[in-house]
Amino acid sequence: MKVLLTGANGQLGNCIKAICPLNYELINTDRQQLDITDNLAIEAIINKYKPDVIINSAAYTAVDRAEDEPTLANQINVIGPQNLAIVAKKYNIKLIHISTDYVFDGNQNIPYIENDVTNPINIYGKTKRDGEITVLNNYPSSIIIRTSWVFSEYGNNFVKTMLKLSKTRTELSVINDQIGNPTYAGDIALTIFDILEKNIPGGIYHYCGDQSVSWYEFAKRIFDIEQQLNSTIKKSPVNVSPILTKDYPTKACRPLYSVLDMQKINLLTGISGSDWNKALRHVIPRINL
Ligand SMILES: NC(=O)c1ccc[n+]([C@@H]2O[C@H](COP(=O)([O-])OP(=O)(O)OC[C@H]3O[C@@H](n4cnc5c(N)ncnc54)[C@H](OP(=O)(O)O)[C@@H]3O)[C@@H](O)[C@H]2O)c1
Repeated sequence: MKVLLTGANGQLGNCIKAICPLNYELINTDRQQLDITDNLAIEAIINKYKPDVIINSAAYTAVDRAEDEPTLANQINVIGPQNLAIVAKKYNIKLIHISTDYVFDGNQNIPYIENDVTNPINIYGKTKRDGEITVLNNYPSSIIIRTSWVFSEYGNNFVKTMLKLSKTRTELSVINDQIGNPTYAGDIALTIFDILEKNIPGGIYHYCGDQSVSWYEFAKRIFDIEQQLNSTIKKSPVNVSPILTKDYPTKACRPLYSVLDMQKINLLTGISGSDWNKALRHVIPRINL
């Protein structure tokens, strides 16, 4: 089966390249090779390679910067996926698109199911929600995977930021009142191929880590695991203190609670959540600082 991958240089894109099963032929495209906001370029590449599947891992993911660049975020997170959905429908290509827990406002205190009311509280979340809507309106058989707090050995993410800061600092303050599920991009990649094998109906599916934590708890776990992995290296442990969102103002608001309920995908396919503790042991030694 031929798969066209967009955003191949991102976290998820790199993980897809790393684990793609041998029975799939992957056509990798980074932003230079295929800009998803460029309709004609999409048509040309589809006509050239005639893929059976498109996996859209391209996105505008800079949550704070999006507040200053709403038009660009909209182009990449709404118009881009819309272009892909229209072309995928025209040529009967399966489309897998990725979305986010930030489509929710975080005012709930039980895990969000796929049909819960969305109410994004920042520009990034709004563009991702609008992207979901336009993809399903244009091509209802598309599969949309909502995920959260993505980390990997590639690109920039919270794990890398913590490890980097700990090189120069002995004290760190980390937010303790935002709760979510860290998710390893490599597990999202495996899930995508699992879904392709199982032929599930179009629609939105939640997939995330198997355990909820605050950013503070996540940071503590990162340093605990780093310490266990490097037990012979004498490095003074980082002292991590919990703080509140209100004490760490950022340009974009973030949901306080964005835990995703995975029952729908689990019941349909048997897929279970990303074991992010295990994934940290794989990722931490591979992060290039
Ligand atoms: N990261 C998270 O914590 C998180 C959480 C929930 C959901 N998600 C979703 O998960 C998916 C994958 O995220 P990720 O963390 O892998 O993102 P990422 O590392 O930021 O990768 C996104 C990739 O998309 C590329 N891109 C940007 N604009 C493009 C365009 N117009 N055409 C083609 N490619 C373009 C970027 O290229 P450049 O580097 O050249 O800009 C980058 O390589 C996204 O849909 C994201 O919204 C992420």
